[in-house]
Amino acid sequence: MKFRVKGNIRDMIAFLRLLPRRKKILASAPAVPAAPGRVNLLAESLHPQVQYLRVTAVRDETPSTRTFRLEPEPGSPTKAPAYFRAGQYLSVKARVGDSSVSRPYSIASSPSDALRENFYEITIRRKEPGFLTTHIWENWKQGTTVKASGPEGFFYIDTIRDSREIIALAGGCGITPFRSMMRDLLERDFVTRFTLLYGITSPAEIIYRDELARLERDSSGRIAVRYICSDPDASWSGETGFLSAAAITRLAGGVTGKSIFVCGPPAMYRFLEGELQGLRVPHRRIRKEACGESADVAAIPGYPQGAEGKPCRLTVQMGPLRREIPANTGETLLVAMERAGIEAPSRCRSGECGFCRSLLVRGDVFVVPDSDGRRAADRDYGFVHPCATYPLGDVELRVPREG
Ligand code: FES
Repeated sequence: MKFRVKGNIRDMIAFLRLLPRRKKILASAPAVPAAPGRVNLLAESLHPQVQYLRVTAVRDETPSTRTFRLEPEPGSPTKAPAYFRAGQYLSVKARVGDSSVSRPYSIASSPSDALRENFYEITIRRKEPGFLTTHIWENWKQGTTVKASGPEGFFYIDTIRDSREIIALAGGCGITPFRSMMRDLLERDFVTRFTLLYGITSPAEIIYRDELARLERDSSGRIAVRYICSDPDASWSGETGFLSAAAITRLAGGVTGKSIFVCGPPAMYRFLEGELQGLRVPHRRIRKEACGESADVAAIPGYPQGAEGKPCRLTVQMGPLRREIPANTGETLLVAMERAGIEAPSRCRSGECGFCRSLLVRGDVFVVPDSDGRRAADRDYGFVHPCATYPLGDVELRVPREG
């Protein structure tokens, strides 16, 4: 329908004539919409609650890392992979024995791979004794159906918020979101300089080595890739040591005016905190990928000494369900629920997204200070994020139902 301005009076009369027509249409309309609105369909395709995907290719990257290509499961409501921003993750859900488990994995492919080629790739390091990762390594083959969330997370380059000069600090498998960003960067010219400093333990553990070299070569000088190896063998002739303040300054040509993105294991975050403070990088210039649960709660600053490793009970209220399950002070409340087969909502497992937000009805808990993503009002009213909260004794929790 075309509208033309005809003048104040004539436009006002035309508008008044519309009103009875509108009333008539509303009166004859069905109470339930005949078809979903286009905006609703678009929102659902961009932010699906769940995506059903199928493993279509498996590739070993290093002796301990493997890449899985995922495409929409034929016949499922997921017609195309939901679009995302380079750096986001999928929360993969699976049933392992009696447990209901989820883990976030960064999407390693680029947004255009999803849009044009219809796939995601995730790269997973096999951890011993990693619960879901071991299950994935042993069970995911071509044809396996995978249940995952829509893309989530805030670890992406935002050109309004971030500098156009990026220093990316990757440790081990923390390279995965940066691979996505670099592939994206080659297709869209939104960053002027992207310097990847990749910390590895040994040369054999470099993931995507050939591809990183190709991305650097094809970037016309916008991408630089530098390695630093902490445990080199005789074949290594590059930089050695850790991603210290001195190494960052030397390899990235200084930090002034640049945004720093960090993704790696928890120990690397703790180490880099002091190093980046020493370099006087303003807090607003640092982006950290959520790093998941800590393997050793006693090592978290602020954890009550000697409280770990004690059995306790967790009472869970979820809708009409009320269950008492065993828990342990060394594991998060979310892990206790998953172990008992309760499908508690979760995405990031790092206290950041708020999907697991639950009410602490009674009991003492320890909330990981670095992962306390609760709003101030939630803290005041007794809400916790079970993925970042450890029981210190018997606890009762009211948990929302997934979806
Ligand atoms: S799963 Fe994201 S805050 Fe708990």
